[in-house]
Amino acid sequence: MRIALVYNQKKEEATQQILSDDLDEPPSSQGKASPNSPLAPLTLQKPAINQVSDMYAEWDTLETIDAVRAALAEVHDVSLIEADQNAYAKLQEALPDIVFNMAEGFYGASREAQIPAMLEMLNIPYTGSDPLTLSICLDKSRAKEILTYHRIPTPRFYVVNDITEIDNNPVQFPCMVKPLHEGSSKGIYNSSIVRSRSELLREIIIVLERYNEPVIVEEYLDGREFTVAMLGNGNNLAVLPIVEIKFDTLPQGVNPIYSFEAKWIWDRSDAPLDIFSCPASLTPKLKNEIEDICRKAYTILRCRDWCRIDVRCDTEGKPHILELNPLPGILPNPEDNSCFPKAARAAGMSYNQLIQAVLLIAAGRYGLIDISPLPHINN
Ligand SMILES: Nc1ncnc2c1ncn2[C@@H]1O[C@H](COP(=O)(O)OP(=O)(O)OP(=O)(O)O)[C@@H](O)[C@H]1O
Ligand SMILES: [Mg+2]
Repeated sequence: MRIALVYNQKKEEATQQILSDDLDEPPSSQGKASPNSPLAPLTLQKPAINQVSDMYAEWDTLETIDAVRAALAEVHDVSLIEADQNAYAKLQEALPDIVFNMAEGFYGASREAQIPAMLEMLNIPYTGSDPLTLSICLDKSRAKEILTYHRIPTPRFYVVNDITEIDNNPVQFPCMVKPLHEGSSKGIYNSSIVRSRSELLREIIIVLERYNEPVIVEEYLDGREFTVAMLGNGNNLAVLPIVEIKFDTLPQGVNPIYSFEAKWIWDRSDAPLDIFSCPASLTPKLKNEIEDICRKAYTILRCRDWCRIDVRCDTEGKPHILELNPLPGILPNPEDNSCFPKAARAAGMSYNQLIQAVLLIAAGRYGLIDISPLPHINN
């Protein structure tokens, strides 16, 4: 097939800036962070992360884009199209059989929908979810409203558009304060867990000012955390081996959350944290509960082909959906700790097999090829 790989490439200077400006020493020892451990006091200075330095955190590096290209090129004829403001004309001219979509888009809460919407207009098949699902999942409150309607557990929450709304808080402390529509832990720092009105006010102001977007305040769940890679559609939907986030590998004294510092500063490919356990050690009951809510969430939100779903347990050990990532990160280097490729490896799939499987699943959905069964997955 003639494939166009559509992508947004991280700007080198911004990457450099993340590495230099934001390198923050972890606080001194407070005892290791672990699920259910008491929250660390706010000993961390907020890193000097500014809008420029995390602006491109969701975009892909040249290394990732090239790894996806190489995986597809083993089987197909691949061209690259950068998802910039000329993307529509380039897609119209190229008219590929199918697009492998990894574009994050520019600006706004619906940015991930931009390329899929163009492709729908041009009637070009593409991998992954449609514009509606991508937009809903990027707006954490819209996704959680739908999950709640369908009685799928998700932490209680409210949305703050303006600082005057702070006292409408129906959520008990401690809570998490997050930007409403970001990913890659943008705006989620060690200090984003708040335990008092003054901390809540401080964090809300920071998010409102830095990201110029509404804030979601969520009940903080202190149990184990997992991320679940889903692959396929309908009756051929597979749950890959579940990844657990091991908070006890974070620097001593920090809060047990997978924050921006944890993803991008304390865990580096030259000094990786051993932060994932895959397959997670689970009782059959917990494994079934996690898989069940993830299958339901995937289906209800009409995800297609693939998605990574974040899950965290409450104090009683009951799993809740934190959020869905229908455009999951796929860093190729195992040292970079990327959850979807990690889960695929545990299922016996190489990186190239994973990328090729996503393409074939999408092509099968459009009837471009006979719907082939999923590759063998060890779960
Ligand atoms: N309500 C919550 N209770 C406990 N921990 C939470 C909660 N919300 C977020 N977290 C922690 O913060 C991390 C990042 O939050 P979240 O997944 O919402 O951000 P994101 O930027 O969308 O992440 P991703 O990199 O997966 O796109 C979670 O992995 C979890 O460790
Ligand atoms: Mg997440």
